[in-house]
Amino acid sequence: MIEKTYHIETFGCQMNERDSETLAGMLEELGYGRAEKKDAEVVILNTCSVRENADKRFFGVLGQLKRQRLSNPSMTVAVCGCMMQQQHIIDRLQTGYSWVDLVFGTHNIADFPRLFVNARDERKRITSVMGEAGEIAEGLPAKRQHDFKAFVNIMYGCNNFCSYCIVPYTRGRERSRRPEHIIGEVEQLAASGVKEVMLLGQNVNSYGKQKAGDIGYLSAEEGGPDFAALLRMVDAVEGIERIRFMSSHPKDLSDELIDCFRSCRHLCRQIHLPVQSGSDRVLKAMQRRYDRNQYFTLIKKLREACPEIAISTDIIVGFPGETEEDFKDTLDLVRRVRYDSAFTFLYSIRPGTPAAAHEEQVPEEVKHERFNRLIKEVHCIQQEKSAAYQDRILRVLVEGLSKNNKNMLTGRSDSGMVVDFAGGEELVGRLLDIRITKAQTFSCYGETVD
Ligand code: 5AD
Ligand code: SF4
Repeated sequence: MIEKTYHIETFGCQMNERDSETLAGMLEELGYGRAEKKDAEVVILNTCSVRENADKRFFGVLGQLKRQRLSNPSMTVAVCGCMMQQQHIIDRLQTGYSWVDLVFGTHNIADFPRLFVNARDERKRITSVMGEAGEIAEGLPAKRQHDFKAFVNIMYGCNNFCSYCIVPYTRGRERSRRPEHIIGEVEQLAASGVKEVMLLGQNVNSYGKQKAGDIGYLSAEEGGPDFAALLRMVDAVEGIERIRFMSSHPKDLSDELIDCFRSCRHLCRQIHLPVQSGSDRVLKAMQRRYDRNQYFTLIKKLREACPEIAISTDIIVGFPGETEEDFKDTLDLVRRVRYDSAFTFLYSIRPGTPAAAHEEQVPEEVKHERFNRLIKEVHCIQQEKSAAYQDRILRVLVEGLSKNNKNMLTGRSDSGMVVDFAGGEELVGRLLDIRITKAQTFSCYGETVD
């Protein structure tokens, strides 16, 4: 008898993590249970394409599966996610990885149970990748990672075509879910004990801004909510104590949305607002459609609406044509904004994007040198900002055992700060007041307040 076990390894962003929860839910409905990779009868790798490193890691992990697969004739190896939406990856899988059983893309996850059962039972390779998205599939099962916090997709895809980014090609055009589906899901989550929801979209600020003829929900035409209004609807769901959202594009951050930081009781005082570069010249070449002054204005408005707001960002170093002057503008922007945290990336050529064809690629050593200067600056500011948490009492949602120390618990503050403290596992999923006893750059230690 075949052991019905599965393992899913997820690369990349929260969108992929959420998709993996759906795949896990489907496998559980088919009677499968979660297992370690080495013991699993079904292994799925859900891939990311955003930078070359993610591609490389995927092929490394896939290569390691070959022996396990070939020594077990009943095993099924499936690969999916953003990488599969690119022909050169499909070609590479076709020639070098004939033992992979199932290849599917980002647009046909709803079809996974049928594809999987076919691949498992017929024992022949199935490749099924759709170039474009169909209608949004609702009501799919999900095996969520946590009982107390959950990802909720509000929209899929991206229309922005930033010149460095592969996502619009792998995830397709923007599609918004209907508000009643979103609110229904949030209500169900709240009823099952979830306290925190993270609303997900590549660019949540353009929720419901699609045009006639597009797939999904069109708020302006249908007279329904845009993103700010949707946030207020989620804020009113009984039992949801914390709301976060990810990611925002500065070009669409409306005053109504900023006002939600004043008016929504459960909205966390935190925003991720990717800036990508501090140079107007580079922002233009990136096709970001805002300049640094507009970005500063947004930061000012956010801080006026919510003085304590924690602001994080994404920055790319070494975009084609970036000069030392451009880079200094980025350093200057970082110093002025004073981010609570920043994700910094070396520009990575993504075949098929406009920036990849740019002739003035920045040499690797220059990229690395700038990258090191940038993270030094970012960490220095982050340390100063974290120090302000010392001796304060933070409300923390307890998430589980600490990664740093298995004898401690870990949780997150409203602002997203990681807080470790001593306590029993029965506290997981609760909101507690924790006094910070030691504030460090990336996390804090604290103790429960009686
Ligand atoms: N190279 C480096 N970083 C990239 N990102 C997107 N595309 C690239 C690329 N080609 C970064 C952006 C984005 C984050 C999710 O990944 O900063 O906000
Ligand atoms: Fe990529 Fe830009 Fe869309 Fe973000 S907004 S997913 S960086 S194209």
